[in-house]
Amino acid sequence: MISNTVNSIRQRTKVVPKIALVLGSGLGRFAERIEDPDVLDYRDIPRFAHSTAPGHKGRLVFGTLSGKPVVCMQGRFHYYEGHPLSDIAYPIRVMKALGADVVILTNAAGGVNPRFSAGDVMMIEDHINFMGINPLIGPNDESVGPRFPDMTYAYDPALRELAFAAACKCRIPLRRGVYLGCTGPSFETPAEIRAFRLLGADAVGMSTVPEVIAANHCGMQVLAFSLITNLAAGVLDRPLSGEEVNTIGERKSGEMERLITAVIEAL
Ligand code: HPA
Repeated sequence: MISNTVNSIRQRTKVVPKIALVLGSGLGRFAERIEDPDVLDYRDIPRFAHSTAPGHKGRLVFGTLSGKPVVCMQGRFHYYEGHPLSDIAYPIRVMKALGADVVILTNAAGGVNPRFSAGDVMMIEDHINFMGINPLIGPNDESVGPRFPDMTYAYDPALRELAFAAACKCRIPLRRGVYLGCTGPSFETPAEIRAFRLLGADAVGMSTVPEVIAANHCGMQVLAFSLITNLAAGVLDRPLSGEEVNTIGERKSGEMERLITAVIEAL
Protein backbone atom coordinates (compact mmCIF):
# COMPACT_ATOMS: atom_id res chain seq x y z
CA MET A 1 0.00 0.00 0.00
CA ILE A 2 2.68 2.51 1.07
CA SER A 3 4.86 1.75 -1.94
CA ASN A 4 1.87 2.37 -4.25
CA THR A 5 1.37 5.82 -2.74
CA VAL A 6 5.11 6.54 -2.80
CA ASN A 7 5.38 5.57 -6.49
CA SER A 8 2.42 7.74 -7.38
CA ILE A 9 3.95 10.73 -5.56
CA ARG A 10 7.40 10.17 -7.11
CA GLN A 11 5.83 10.49 -10.55
CA ARG A 12 4.71 13.99 -9.63
CA THR A 13 7.73 15.46 -7.83
CA LYS A 14 11.49 15.12 -8.07
CA VAL A 15 11.99 16.38 -4.51
CA VAL A 16 13.36 13.71 -2.15
CA PRO A 17 12.45 15.21 1.22
CA LYS A 18 14.78 14.92 4.21
CA ILE A 19 12.50 16.84 6.57
CA ALA A 20 8.72 16.44 6.96
CA LEU A 21 6.52 19.21 8.37
CA VAL A 22 3.00 18.87 9.74
CA LEU A 23 1.28 22.23 10.10
CA GLY A 24 -1.51 22.75 12.60
CA SER A 25 -4.49 25.11 12.94
CA GLY A 26 -3.74 28.64 11.79
CA LEU A 27 -0.16 27.72 10.85
CA GLY A 28 -0.74 26.41 7.34
CA ARG A 29 0.55 29.58 5.68
CA PHE A 30 4.12 28.55 6.48
CA ALA A 31 3.88 26.20 3.47
CA GLU A 32 3.83 29.30 1.25
CA ARG A 33 7.50 29.86 2.12
CA ILE A 34 8.52 26.65 0.40
CA GLU A 35 10.58 27.40 -2.72
CA ASP A 36 9.88 25.82 -6.13
CA PRO A 37 6.84 24.04 -4.71
CA ASP A 38 5.22 20.92 -6.14
CA VAL A 39 1.71 20.86 -4.68
CA LEU A 40 -0.30 17.63 -4.45
CA ASP A 41 -3.90 17.73 -3.26
CA TYR A 42 -4.70 14.95 -0.77
CA ARG A 43 -7.61 14.02 -3.02
CA ASP A 44 -5.16 13.09 -5.77
CA ILE A 45 -2.95 10.89 -3.56
CA PRO A 46 -3.90 7.21 -3.40
CA ARG A 47 -5.09 6.04 0.03
CA PHE A 48 -4.89 9.54 1.59
CA ALA A 49 -7.87 10.76 3.62
CA HIS A 50 -9.23 14.29 3.03
CA SER A 51 -9.01 17.03 5.63
CA THR A 52 -12.13 18.90 6.66
CA ALA A 53 -11.04 20.83 9.78
CA PRO A 54 -11.36 24.63 9.54
CA GLY A 55 -8.11 26.34 8.54
CA HIS A 56 -6.68 23.10 7.09
CA LYS A 57 -6.02 23.09 3.35
CA GLY A 58 -5.40 19.43 2.64
CA ARG A 59 -2.34 19.22 0.45
CA LEU A 60 1.25 17.98 0.41
CA VAL A 61 3.79 20.62 -0.61
CA PHE A 62 7.25 19.52 -1.77
CA GLY A 63 10.16 21.91 -2.26
CA THR A 64 13.06 23.49 -0.41
CA LEU A 65 13.37 25.57 2.75
CA SER A 66 16.78 27.10 3.53
CA GLY A 67 18.14 24.91 0.73
CA LYS A 68 16.89 21.69 2.35
CA PRO A 69 14.42 19.37 0.61
CA VAL A 70 11.15 19.22 2.57
CA VAL A 71 7.65 17.84 2.37
CA CYS A 72 4.92 19.67 4.20
CA MET A 73 1.45 18.48 5.19
CA GLN A 74 -0.57 21.65 4.85
CA GLY A 75 -3.45 20.51 6.99
CA ARG A 76 -3.66 17.35 9.04
CA PHE A 77 -6.26 14.74 9.92
CA HIS A 78 -7.93 14.65 13.30
CA TYR A 79 -9.58 11.80 15.12
CA TYR A 80 -12.58 14.07 15.85
CA GLU A 81 -13.26 14.34 12.12
CA GLY A 82 -14.03 10.63 12.18
CA HIS A 83 -10.77 9.48 10.58
CA PRO A 84 -9.48 6.17 11.92
CA LEU A 85 -6.04 6.62 13.46
CA SER A 86 -4.61 4.41 10.69
CA ASP A 87 -5.48 7.24 8.26
CA ILE A 88 -3.66 9.69 10.52
CA ALA A 89 -0.56 7.47 10.72
CA TYR A 90 -0.50 6.81 6.97
CA PRO A 91 0.90 10.14 5.68
CA ILE A 92 3.64 10.00 8.32
CA ARG A 93 4.72 6.57 7.06
CA VAL A 94 4.56 7.77 3.48
CA MET A 95 6.77 10.81 4.23
CA LYS A 96 9.29 8.51 5.94
CA ALA A 97 9.23 6.13 2.96
CA LEU A 98 9.84 9.13 0.66
CA GLY A 99 13.07 9.87 2.57
CA ALA A 100 12.22 12.09 5.54
CA ASP A 101 14.00 10.99 8.73
CA VAL A 102 12.96 14.05 10.73
CA VAL A 103 9.41 15.31 11.27
CA ILE A 104 8.57 18.71 12.74
CA LEU A 105 4.97 19.03 13.92
CA THR A 106 3.07 22.10 15.00
CA ASN A 107 -0.31 22.48 16.63
CA ALA A 108 -2.59 24.95 18.34
CA ALA A 109 -3.09 24.15 22.00
CA GLY A 110 -4.72 25.45 25.14
CA GLY A 111 -2.44 26.54 27.97
CA VAL A 112 -2.90 24.40 31.09
CA ASN A 113 0.17 25.76 32.89
CA PRO A 114 -1.03 28.95 34.65
CA ARG A 115 2.25 30.70 33.80
CA PHE A 116 1.50 30.47 30.07
CA SER A 117 -0.13 33.24 28.01
CA ALA A 118 -1.95 33.20 24.67
CA GLY A 119 0.66 33.61 21.92
CA ASP A 120 3.40 31.62 23.70
CA VAL A 121 5.29 28.96 21.77
CA MET A 122 5.92 25.71 23.67
CA MET A 123 8.38 23.03 22.60
CA ILE A 124 6.83 19.66 23.45
CA GLU A 125 9.15 17.62 25.68
CA ASP A 126 6.79 14.70 26.23
CA HIS A 127 3.13 13.84 25.89
CA ILE A 128 0.27 12.16 27.70
CA ASN A 129 -1.98 10.15 25.41
CA PHE A 130 -5.44 10.84 26.83
CA MET A 131 -7.23 9.85 23.62
CA GLY A 132 -7.95 6.34 24.83
CA ILE A 133 -6.71 4.92 21.53
CA ASN A 134 -3.40 4.26 19.78
CA PRO A 135 -2.64 4.36 16.04
CA LEU A 136 -0.61 1.12 16.28
CA ILE A 137 -3.53 -1.02 17.47
CA GLY A 138 -4.08 -3.87 15.03
CA PRO A 139 -1.72 -6.15 13.12
CA ASN A 140 1.86 -4.83 13.13
CA ASP A 141 3.82 -4.46 9.89
CA GLU A 142 7.36 -5.38 10.96
CA SER A 143 8.76 -3.77 7.80
CA VAL A 144 7.48 -0.42 9.14
CA GLY A 145 8.45 -0.78 12.82
CA PRO A 146 8.42 -2.97 15.93
CA ARG A 147 5.31 -4.27 17.73
CA PHE A 148 6.23 -2.47 20.96
CA PRO A 149 8.10 0.72 20.05
CA ASP A 150 9.99 2.57 22.78
CA MET A 151 8.64 6.04 23.60
CA THR A 152 11.30 7.13 26.12
CA TYR A 153 12.75 9.63 23.66
CA ALA A 154 9.57 10.26 21.66
CA TYR A 155 10.60 13.92 21.26
CA ASP A 156 14.21 13.59 20.16
CA PRO A 157 16.54 15.04 22.85
CA ALA A 158 19.21 16.15 20.34
CA LEU A 159 16.61 17.94 18.19
CA ARG A 160 15.17 19.60 21.28
CA GLU A 161 18.61 20.88 22.22
CA LEU A 162 19.16 22.13 18.67
CA ALA A 163 15.76 23.87 18.70
CA PHE A 164 16.42 25.45 22.07
CA ALA A 165 19.75 26.81 20.84
CA ALA A 166 18.10 28.10 17.64
CA ALA A 167 15.40 29.85 19.69
CA CYS A 168 18.01 31.49 21.96
CA LYS A 169 20.01 32.64 18.94
CA CYS A 170 16.92 34.24 17.35
CA ARG A 171 15.76 35.62 20.71
CA ILE A 172 12.48 33.74 20.49
CA PRO A 173 11.11 33.04 23.98
CA LEU A 174 10.43 29.31 24.15
CA ARG A 175 8.30 27.51 26.73
CA ARG A 176 8.86 23.81 27.25
CA GLY A 177 6.39 21.28 28.56
CA VAL A 178 4.11 18.28 28.35
CA TYR A 179 1.30 18.13 25.77
CA LEU A 180 -1.81 16.18 26.67
CA GLY A 181 -3.81 14.90 23.70
CA CYS A 182 -7.62 14.61 23.94
CA THR A 183 -9.97 13.50 21.18
CA GLY A 184 -12.09 16.67 21.10
CA PRO A 185 -14.08 18.06 19.37
CA SER A 186 -15.63 19.54 22.50
CA PHE A 187 -13.18 21.64 24.46
CA GLU A 188 -12.36 20.37 27.92
CA THR A 189 -14.28 21.24 31.07
CA PRO A 190 -12.61 23.31 33.80
CA ALA A 191 -12.58 20.18 36.02
CA GLU A 192 -10.75 18.23 33.31
CA ILE A 193 -8.19 21.01 32.96
CA ARG A 194 -7.58 21.01 36.74
CA ALA A 195 -7.16 17.22 36.59
CA PHE A 196 -4.73 17.49 33.62
CA ARG A 197 -2.65 20.02 35.54
CA LEU A 198 -2.33 17.52 38.40
CA LEU A 199 -1.30 14.86 35.87
CA GLY A 200 1.58 17.05 34.72
CA ALA A 201 0.21 18.60 31.53
CA ASP A 202 1.28 22.08 30.43
CA ALA A 203 -0.85 22.25 27.28
CA VAL A 204 -3.85 20.43 25.85
CA GLY A 205 -4.88 19.78 22.26
CA MET A 206 -6.67 17.47 19.85
CA SER A 207 -3.88 16.28 17.55
CA THR A 208 -0.16 15.43 17.34
CA VAL A 209 -0.08 12.43 19.73
CA PRO A 210 -1.14 9.83 17.09
CA GLU A 211 1.33 11.25 14.53
CA VAL A 212 4.17 11.26 17.06
CA ILE A 213 3.48 7.63 17.99
CA ALA A 214 3.40 6.65 14.29
CA ALA A 215 6.60 8.62 13.58
CA ASN A 216 8.47 6.95 16.45
CA HIS A 217 7.21 3.56 15.32
CA CYS A 218 8.70 4.00 11.84
CA GLY A 219 11.98 5.38 13.21
CA MET A 220 11.64 9.11 12.57
CA GLN A 221 13.14 11.75 14.85
CA VAL A 222 10.40 14.04 16.15
CA LEU A 223 10.35 17.71 17.07
CA ALA A 224 7.05 19.40 17.96
CA PHE A 225 5.81 22.84 18.94
CA SER A 226 2.51 24.06 20.33
CA LEU A 227 1.26 27.56 19.73
CA ILE A 228 -0.71 28.42 22.84
CA THR A 229 -3.75 30.05 21.24
CA ASN A 230 -5.76 30.37 24.44
CA LEU A 231 -5.66 29.52 28.10
CA ALA A 232 -7.53 26.24 28.63
CA ALA A 233 -11.09 26.10 29.95
CA GLY A 234 -11.63 27.60 33.37
CA VAL A 235 -8.23 29.31 33.56
CA LEU A 236 -10.06 32.52 32.66
CA ASP A 237 -13.72 33.02 33.49
CA ARG A 238 -14.94 33.06 29.88
CA PRO A 239 -15.94 30.56 27.18
CA LEU A 240 -13.57 29.26 24.44
CA SER A 241 -14.23 29.25 20.71
CA GLY A 242 -12.71 27.43 17.76
CA GLU A 243 -12.68 30.69 15.83
CA GLU A 244 -10.46 32.27 18.49
CA VAL A 245 -8.01 29.38 18.09
CA ASN A 246 -7.69 30.01 14.34
CA THR A 247 -7.46 33.81 14.53
CA ILE A 248 -4.83 33.77 17.28
CA GLY A 249 -3.05 31.00 15.36
CA GLU A 250 -2.91 33.19 12.26
CA ARG A 251 -2.02 36.36 14.15
CA LYS A 252 0.70 34.81 16.32
CA SER A 253 2.17 32.32 13.87
CA GLY A 254 5.09 34.62 12.90
CA GLU A 255 7.32 33.61 15.79
CA MET A 256 6.65 29.94 15.22
CA GLU A 257 7.56 30.38 11.55
CA ARG A 258 10.82 32.14 12.43
CA LEU A 259 11.64 29.37 14.88
CA ILE A 260 10.97 26.55 12.42
CA THR A 261 13.04 28.34 9.77
CA ALA A 262 15.93 28.67 12.24
CA VAL A 263 15.65 25.00 13.19
CA ILE A 264 15.69 23.88 9.55
CA GLU A 265 18.73 26.05 8.91
CA ALA A 266 20.52 24.41 11.86
CA LEU A 267 19.60 20.83 10.90
N1 HPA B 1 -8.21 22.61 24.13
C1 HPA B 1 -8.01 21.64 23.20
N2 HPA B 1 -7.49 21.88 22.02
C2 HPA B 1 -7.14 23.15 21.74
C3 HPA B 1 -7.31 24.20 22.66
C4 HPA B 1 -7.87 23.90 23.92
O1 HPA B 1 -8.06 24.78 24.79
N3 HPA B 1 -6.86 25.34 22.07
C5 HPA B 1 -6.41 24.98 20.84
N4 HPA B 1 -6.58 23.65 20.64
